[in-house]
Amino acid sequence: MSEQTEARDTTVSAVSELDGKLARLKGWLYNKRSSGKILFMIIRDGTGVIQCVATKNEMGEELFRRLDGLHQESSLIVEGLVHKDHRAPGGYEIQVKECRVVSEAWPDYPITLKEHGPEFLLDQRHLWIRTPTQRAILAVRAEVMRSIREFLDNDGFVEVSAPILTPSACEGTSTLFSTPYFGEKAYLSQSGQLYNEATIMALGKVYCFGPTFRAEKSKTRRHLTEFWMVEPEAAFMTFEELLDLEERMVTFVVRRVIDRCSKELEQVGRDPKDLERIVPPFPRMTYDDAVKLLQENGIDIQWGDDFGSPHETFLASQSDKPVFVTGYPTKVKAFYMEPDPERPEIVLASDLLAPEGYGEIIGGSQRIHDYDLLVQRIKEHNLPMEAYDWYLDLRKFGTVPHSGFGLGIERFVAWMCHLDHLREASPFPRMITRMRP
Ligand code: 4AD
Ligand code: MG
Repeated sequence: MSEQTEARDTTVSAVSELDGKLARLKGWLYNKRSSGKILFMIIRDGTGVIQCVATKNEMGEELFRRLDGLHQESSLIVEGLVHKDHRAPGGYEIQVKECRVVSEAWPDYPITLKEHGPEFLLDQRHLWIRTPTQRAILAVRAEVMRSIREFLDNDGFVEVSAPILTPSACEGTSTLFSTPYFGEKAYLSQSGQLYNEATIMALGKVYCFGPTFRAEKSKTRRHLTEFWMVEPEAAFMTFEELLDLEERMVTFVVRRVIDRCSKELEQVGRDPKDLERIVPPFPRMTYDDAVKLLQENGIDIQWGDDFGSPHETFLASQSDKPVFVTGYPTKVKAFYMEPDPERPEIVLASDLLAPEGYGEIIGGSQRIHDYDLLVQRIKEHNLPMEAYDWYLDLRKFGTVPHSGFGLGIERFVAWMCHLDHLREASPFPRMITRMRP
C-alpha cells in the first residue's frame, strides 16, 4: 500500500476508518483549552465531537495565536493525523497539521458551557440545537421517523399525504386553528385520519406522516400546538389486528433506536436496558378495570370520565412496558369510533400508554362504517354536516370495517430519550406561549 499524502475528508463518526492517516474535518469549535504551546480544540461537525491538538511548532507563531484566540462556534477546516487515544472522548484524536479558519465567531455566543434556564434556552433554540444533547435528541427523532417508514413500507402500507388546510374538524372543535381562506375559513389539520379513510379505499393500507396542529389551551409538558404524527389506516383491519400492528411497530422502532442510536442514548443519559424490555406482548387493560384500579388506589375518577395525565401515569406505572387501555366510554371519545357490538356505551378504541410517566403515545380505533350511525354521531357532536359530505360518501360506496391509529412523534422521542418535556423532542417547538424562533 502506498503512503497516503493527501488528507481525506472524514466526519467525527467515521474517523476510526482513517486511524493513522491524514484526515480533513470540517466543523465548529465547541470548546478549547491551551497551555500556551499546545492547544486542545474540541470540534463538533454534526456527527459528534473530537479533540484536535494543535501545537505552536506545527502551526507557526501567527496561526497558533489566531487559533488560540478563537471564540466558541468559529467554523474551521482542520487537516491532521488521526490516532487512537483511549483518554480522548470518543477514543480518537487528531494531531493538527493544517487549519483554516472559515469564519471567526463573534465573542458573545449566548450559550456557554454553564447551566442555563429552560426559557432562555428556548429563546436560543436556533443555537441550542448545536449542543451535543440536543443534537442527539434530533438524531434519535430522525431514526424514529426513518424506522417507522421502514416498518410500514415493509408491511405493505403506502404513504399518502393528507392535506394541512382542511374544511372540517377530526378531533373535536375546541382545539382548531383557523385561518382565512379566500373568503372561507380553513382549519389546520388536527389529524389526517379522515383522508386516510378515503385513501384506503384506493390503496388498501396507507399512512400519512406530517405536522398536525392543536390549539391546546393547557400548558403541560405533554402538549405542543404543532406536532408530527404518523397515522396508519387499513381497510378491513379489525380492532384486534390494529392492536397487533401497534405492538409490532412500536417494538420495531424501539429496537432500531437501541441498535442505531447507542451513542445518542448514552449522550442523553438513557439506559438502553430500559428499552430492551419493550417486547411483545404489551399488557392490556380494559377501561372498566382501569377505573377500578384507580379508585382502589385513591385516585379520583368516575366511570365515564376521560383520563388525565395523573391517571395515565398511574396506569402506565403498572408495567415497564407500554400498556393498552381498551374500551373507552363512547361519550368521551371521537365521533368516528365504532361502538362495541356487545356494549354500545363503549367504543373499539385503545390508547397505548408509555411507561415512566410518558402517558398516551398512540390513540387508535376501529371506525364507524355504517352510514346511518355516522350521520347520527355527526349530529350528536354538533358538527356541521355539510363539511363531512365527502366523508359520508365513503360509507355509501363500498364501505368496509376499517381501523387505524396515530402515533405522536414528539411523545415517542421524549420517551426514547427520557426527556422531562416534549419541547426538546421538536427542533422548533410550538406551544401556547411560544412560536419563536
Ligand atoms: O389521540 P389523538 O388525538 O388521535 C388522533 O388524532 C386520531 N385521529 C389518530 C388516528 O387514529 N389516525 O392523537 C394521536 C396521538 C396521541 O396519542 C399523542 O401521541 C399525539 O398524537 N398527540 C400530541 N402530541 C403532542 N402534542 C399534542 N397536543 C398532542 N395531541 C395528540
Ligand atoms: Mg388520544
